[in-house]
Amino acid sequence: MRFAVMASGRGSNFQALIDARARSELPGAELVQLIVNKSDAQAVARAEAAGIPWAFIDSGAMARAEFDRCALALLRDCRAEAVVLAGFMRLLTPEFIAAFRHRILNIHPALLPLFPGAHAHRDALAAGVTESGCSAHFVDEGVDTGPVILQQTVPILPNDDAETLAARILPHEHLLLLEAVRLLAAGRLEVDGNAIRILPRK
Ligand code: GRF
Repeated sequence: MRFAVMASGRGSNFQALIDARARSELPGAELVQLIVNKSDAQAVARAEAAGIPWAFIDSGAMARAEFDRCALALLRDCRAEAVVLAGFMRLLTPEFIAAFRHRILNIHPALLPLFPGAHAHRDALAAGVTESGCSAHFVDEGVDTGPVILQQTVPILPNDDAETLAARILPHEHLLLLEAVRLLAAGRLEVDGNAIRILPRK
C-alpha cells in the first residue's frame, strides 16, 4: 500500500516510519510522498535524508478547500492509496476525507474520545486525570472523532507539565502509528460504525 505522509512540524512520527522502513519493519507499506503545510517543517529534512519526495503547499496562502484540492492532486499524481497525518495540525475538508475514507490515519496524544484537539496534554492535566496516553485512529469529518484503532495508556506523574507528559507519551505514539500502518497495509482493519475490528493475520 502506497502511503503519503502529511506533517506540519517536527516530524518525529514520520521519522519513526522512515526508521521502521529502513529496518524492513513496514511490510506491505511504501512511503511515497511527504506533504508539509509549513515552510519550516523539520519533516522536510527527514524526507530528504531518506530520499522521499516532498512538497510544500502553503496553507497560509490559500483557503482550506484550495489547499485540500492541491494536496489531493498531488496524492493522485503519486498514486497514494493511504495518508498518514503525522503531526499535521490542520483540519481536512469533507471532500478530502471522502476521497480517502478509512484510509487516513492520525496519531493523537490522548486517550480518545477524551481530550481531542490541539491541546491534549494541557487538557488532560487540567482535568486532573491520573493517566492519559495516545490513540491511532481513522480520520473522519470531526476533530479527532474517527474510529479508534489502537490506544496506549501512559501514567501522569504528580509533577508533570504539558512538556514532560508529551515527552513520555511520544515514544508510544511512534510505536502505535507503526502498528496502525502495518495493520492497514495488511488489510486487517475492518470498520463497523465507529468501531474497529482487527482481523487475524492472513
Ligand atoms: C504528536 O504529539 C502528535 O500526536 C500530534 O502532534 C505531535 C507531532 O509530533 N498530533 P511530530 O511532529 O510527529 O514529532
